[in-house]
Amino acid sequence: MSVAKPLPHDAAKLHVTGAARYVDDIPTPANTLHIAFGVSKPAAGRLMSMDLSAVRTAPGVVAVYTADDLAFANDVSPSNHDEPLLATDAVHYAGQPLFMVVATSHLAARHAARLGQIEIEKTDPILTIEQALNADSRFEDGPRIYQKGDAAAALQQAHQTLSGSINIGGQEHFYLEGQAALALPQDNGDMVVHSSTQHPTEIQHKVAEALGVHMHAIRVETRRMGGGFGGKESQGNALAIACAVAASKTGQPCKMRYDRDDDMIITGKRHDFRIDYTVGFDAKGKITALDFTHFTRCGWGMDLSLPVADRAMLHADNAYHLDHIRITSHRLRTNTQSATAFRGFGGPQGIVGIERVMDHIAHHLDADPLAVRRANYYADAPSDQVQTTPYHQPVKDGIINALTDRLVASSDYAARRAAIEAWNASQPILKRGIALTPVKFGISFTLTHLNQAGALVHVYNDGSIHLNHGGTEMGQGLFQKIAQVAACRFGVNVSAVKITATDTGKVPNTSATAASSGTDLNGMAVQAACDTIRDRITAHLAQVHGVAPEAVTFAGGMVTVGSEKITFAEAVMSAYLARVSLSSTGFYKTPDIEWDRITGRGSPFFYFAYGAAVTEVVIDTLTGENRILRADILHDAGASLNPALDIGQIEGGYVQGAGWLTTEELVWDDQGALKTHAPSTYKIPAISDRPDIFNVALWDQPNPAQTVYRSKAVGEPPLMLGISAFMALSDAVRACGATYADLQAPATAEAVLDASLKARA
Ligand code: MTE
Ligand code: MOS
Repeated sequence: MSVAKPLPHDAAKLHVTGAARYVDDIPTPANTLHIAFGVSKPAAGRLMSMDLSAVRTAPGVVAVYTADDLAFANDVSPSNHDEPLLATDAVHYAGQPLFMVVATSHLAARHAARLGQIEIEKTDPILTIEQALNADSRFEDGPRIYQKGDAAAALQQAHQTLSGSINIGGQEHFYLEGQAALALPQDNGDMVVHSSTQHPTEIQHKVAEALGVHMHAIRVETRRMGGGFGGKESQGNALAIACAVAASKTGQPCKMRYDRDDDMIITGKRHDFRIDYTVGFDAKGKITALDFTHFTRCGWGMDLSLPVADRAMLHADNAYHLDHIRITSHRLRTNTQSATAFRGFGGPQGIVGIERVMDHIAHHLDADPLAVRRANYYADAPSDQVQTTPYHQPVKDGIINALTDRLVASSDYAARRAAIEAWNASQPILKRGIALTPVKFGISFTLTHLNQAGALVHVYNDGSIHLNHGGTEMGQGLFQKIAQVAACRFGVNVSAVKITATDTGKVPNTSATAASSGTDLNGMAVQAACDTIRDRITAHLAQVHGVAPEAVTFAGGMVTVGSEKITFAEAVMSAYLARVSLSSTGFYKTPDIEWDRITGRGSPFFYFAYGAAVTEVVIDTLTGENRILRADILHDAGASLNPALDIGQIEGGYVQGAGWLTTEELVWDDQGALKTHAPSTYKIPAISDRPDIFNVALWDQPNPAQTVYRSKAVGEPPLMLGISAFMALSDAVRACGATYADLQAPATAEAVLDASLKARA
């Protein structure tokens, strides 16, 4: 079987040799033009005038467009029609595109874009969560509240209570390939767009609106991205639209890619949060009441902020069963980049909230934080009690207790914890810490209708297979996993399957490749398409050979028909000659989900993915400098379709999550200018930051839900394993003194130093 094999990524060789083609590598026609945006410096104000004469006369400039030049929709928003491609009368953040330059080269366009004389009547920007609250600047009329039980009454009766607050920073996606698009004008106003996007259908839709044509006039193609991480769900719209508008006006191909600084200054990032909590608990640390308030900084446009904030609320419980909980969520509008999807889509922030609560309770009780966590876990399935989440979905697939047992043993948690305590007692300057944190992550788009996918499979008469589906490849290995599924359905080697670029002309009306559901959705659609073709070949052979259809089987590149064996290619040729259709679409929609995001009730998730990580760190209490020494992970990928790719996702997710909560710090000045807009000032983990000891294992039990080969989604959940690094730092700080130091995220060296000083005080 091709499934369950640890095959390398289909483009691994191309990636490491530099031969993989990204949008910027596609050979372009000689008359291709290049685009750059002129952007706003102030974060808020009224756009009074733009003198673009120097831009127009700069070398290489072919055209300059402002909002007035846009004949149709001036909008790049994925949700609310509130993000103009080019500013009209008001400016909402420092970095907002005001005009676009079309020039003969990328550099000429960028140079000219700096020459605009822009007059903006500045107003005071709303930048911080506090400023937004004071100004009541928000999306939606007021806060959204989800609740189960009666948290207020239960807090009154609680044995003891604690309150606190944690700031959680945002995160730059830092995909290695920056945003890029290329538009190629066709006959009669049609347009082909190559876009580095997780969502080709949305590019098609937005480009059609901008050109005033139907979607059938636009075809979008995406072969691969050099990383997306959620940052290419909606943030590629502006580039694709700009290219298409300019290509339509000039009749020439147009291309745009953001330079790294522009990319960081213009595009949205992970939402930063403040989470306030009041928790009631008993002497063992079992939570009896919990009240959370999420303050979400959404930036200037709505983008995907509402579902992101919803998902944070939906993960406020993480792996813990809570009888009385109330979650209040404020979605705040600020004059900063419009925050967007980022791996976990709000889930990580929600989970950090409750992990902080566990840490705080453990400190208060002077208990092992793991004991407090375990006292609150959901029961494993099967269980006599039906436990529900704060949004009233029953948790029927629990495994977190058994998974934790196994990880505690394999990581030698108890002995290492004791050794660390002894070591800390003898070390005045360096302190070590260790933490185990669990993850329970809900799988499905919370917007229920997005949980659908399509596929298109052709079998050519030489027995080779052309595979297409609605998912996009961003490095996660989706294409390879799905090729394995297709190969398996036909019983052939995966080399018989040609992976092809995502194309809105082949599979229409696709959802973004997001919510980790790429394989679950597209894998099932491909399976359906393959099975349709296989069943036709089967019926044909059964008839010709006079056997029952059950006597026709596909394996090892051969087709067995009763007592005879022919090659797959011979079977296909036979079907072709008999005029059997060898092409099919496939479709899938996730069953059993329903959800009301306003009342916060329902079953938004098809199932949960689980995992846990143990991280050990060391801090220098004089400087705050810190290191991850070791990480042990046990993660649930169901019956893995490809253990090599899944382990790659887990390692990468962990490191990205740990980076978010440690070194990656976004800094805006008091006027709203982003000061960290290059790798020189924004520190993502390097290969040297990978833990020296890094043990990653798969839980590898089949998914009880009926997914493709009983696998589980694995794209986002492992990011939240990185939270164990943050909690291990908090544990190391705990060794500095008796005061609870409420470490803030990201735990940069400065934050760790502050916290260790506070602990000592
Ligand atoms: N892995 C790599 N290498 N590059 C990426 O951009 N994106 C993540 C995750 N893993 C990403 C990645 C995000 S945000 C999601 S939602 C999933 O992959 C999307 O792909 P999937 O649904 O096929 O898992
Ligand atoms: Mo992932 S944040 O759902 O693209």
